[in-house]
Amino acid sequence: MCGIVGYAGRRPALEVAVEGLGRLEYRGYDSAGIALVGDGGALTVEKRAGKLANLRSALAGRPAPRATTGIGHTRWATHGAPTDRNAHPHTDCRERIAVIHNGIIENFAVLRAELEGEGHKLLSETDTEVVAHLLEEFAADGLAEAMRRVCRRLEGAFTLLAVSVDEPGVVVGARRNSPLVVGRGDGENFLGSDVAAFIAYTRDAVELGQDQVVELRPSGVTITDFSGAPAGTRDYHVDWDASAAEKGGHDYFMLKEIAEQPQAVGDTLLGRVGPDGMLTLDEMRLSDQELRDISKIIVVACGTSYHAGLIAKYAIEHWAGLPCEVELASEFRYRDPILTRDTLVLVISQSGETMDTLMAVRHAREQRSRVLAVCNVNGSTISRESDAVLYTHAGPEVAVASTKAFLTQLVACYLVALYLAQVRGTKFGDEISEIIGWLAETPSKVREVLATMEPVRALARSLADERCVLFLGRHVGFPVALEGALKLKELAYMHAEGFAAGELKHGPIALIEEGLPVVVVVPSPAGQRVLHDKIVSNIQEIRARGARTVVVAEEGDTAVEPYADTLIRVPVVPTLLQPLVATVPLQVFACELATAKGHDVDQPRNLAKSVTVE
Ligand code: F6R
Repeated sequence: MCGIVGYAGRRPALEVAVEGLGRLEYRGYDSAGIALVGDGGALTVEKRAGKLANLRSALAGRPAPRATTGIGHTRWATHGAPTDRNAHPHTDCRERIAVIHNGIIENFAVLRAELEGEGHKLLSETDTEVVAHLLEEFAADGLAEAMRRVCRRLEGAFTLLAVSVDEPGVVVGARRNSPLVVGRGDGENFLGSDVAAFIAYTRDAVELGQDQVVELRPSGVTITDFSGAPAGTRDYHVDWDASAAEKGGHDYFMLKEIAEQPQAVGDTLLGRVGPDGMLTLDEMRLSDQELRDISKIIVVACGTSYHAGLIAKYAIEHWAGLPCEVELASEFRYRDPILTRDTLVLVISQSGETMDTLMAVRHAREQRSRVLAVCNVNGSTISRESDAVLYTHAGPEVAVASTKAFLTQLVACYLVALYLAQVRGTKFGDEISEIIGWLAETPSKVREVLATMEPVRALARSLADERCVLFLGRHVGFPVALEGALKLKELAYMHAEGFAAGELKHGPIALIEEGLPVVVVVPSPAGQRVLHDKIVSNIQEIRARGARTVVVAEEGDTAVEPYADTLIRVPVVPTLLQPLVATVPLQVFACELATAKGHDVDQPRNLAKSVTVE
């Protein structure tokens, strides 16, 4: 949430900041703003409510200030409505210091009262503005030391960047529980909420640790902890380039990311299967004995990643024979989960920055449980703080609604489940090789699904005026139904609910009325004969009550044909892998329906990618 960019170098800082914000806008689009320190020492601040386009128009046609130092911000509003006044940057009383912020400063009310008591005039409703005024109080110490002193007074989560007219050529940043990455250039350096902020200029990045302050100059970066002691960091090279974060000819990032799924799934598998057909997951960083000692797995995640976790449970229990619970991260640490040394907590997060999930990681580690993270973003906080990480290698996911990250999370979870089965001996080698063989075929299976999506798009357009769509599934089809409903809610702003089809008669069937579209994900008749037959009965039950049935069923399943108003075919795969093919039509459906309603599918209202506040 909130995109942050900082620059100190030799290029026009305005261009670098606005370009970076363009790549970060998916993190929040309630307002955008920049602050530049001119080469002559003047501070320019420009900010506008609404999308970055509004800021761009405000800046257009004006001479750009000569400035090679600057900061930029796109906001997802927490404290204060999304207005020009609440937009970042915020300045101190003398307008010599400008600050941008991501996160929530929990003790801001106390600090604000204190500052106002001392005569400071605060103009906005934000929690951020107190930081600019506190920096002003300590300005005589220099910007970096002032930042350290301010951070020692703040409670909550924050990434902060500040510039001051007293120190042209310097940007100071700080982080606690909120992301900030350094980009190293030649005679120039960058800061960003993620590497997308500076990927057009450098792929050499530095991971900042918790509670660190960074002083950025064109000639180098100095990183300390909040007390001023030099801090340890890790340099890494970003393995994708700027073109990966561009639309590549598609109208929306989401369309591009849906289309990239075959490649992404293949990349998740890459290098993880040995020549003998067995898995080699060195990243697990747990010895075979430790894996054998595990007595329980708890999967913890949010949103779409949680749905991947629900599917992981079926695979872990079936292949590895381990008890597995799945928990929403926002609930996990507020009850008393029974966590022991032999509990493996599997966290799933595309961004690796989701605050609820991060807090779950910390909670689990405090109880001495081991944490394995399935993450997409290299160097993210969750991947750093977990005992081990399995990267999904999906490449950058820019659209707010997750698509390719979900499919690759599924593949990573299947790999974890199979690896546990391999080490614990609950599956024989040939059974494991057979499943891996099926996984290896999923890129082509997903490609097949993508090639047949025109009827799904036509169906979506025909349903654009509906007010509600229900989704039903059983077994792994149940989380797929939940995911289909979530995609439709977030993109089309429609009432959409997913149910376990077996629950229908316990309440939800009362919702069925004439013409209500109900999407039903049908299990394989070969793999799940009993469940298959039960869901065919469920379809008949809702149809008898007037539902318009949209049935997702595997090729060759003729039993569903008489009861499907619309039939969407998916290729035959083993039951546990069906979500890899059955989710894709639901993504396409939601994307097309939202587009037909005229929505921006990359930036749905009220949402932001990477939820870094609780
Ligand atoms: C929905 C979506 C969200 C995320 C959730 C967790 O399309 O993208 O529900 O899945 O916010 O995010 P990560 O995976 O980054 O922890």
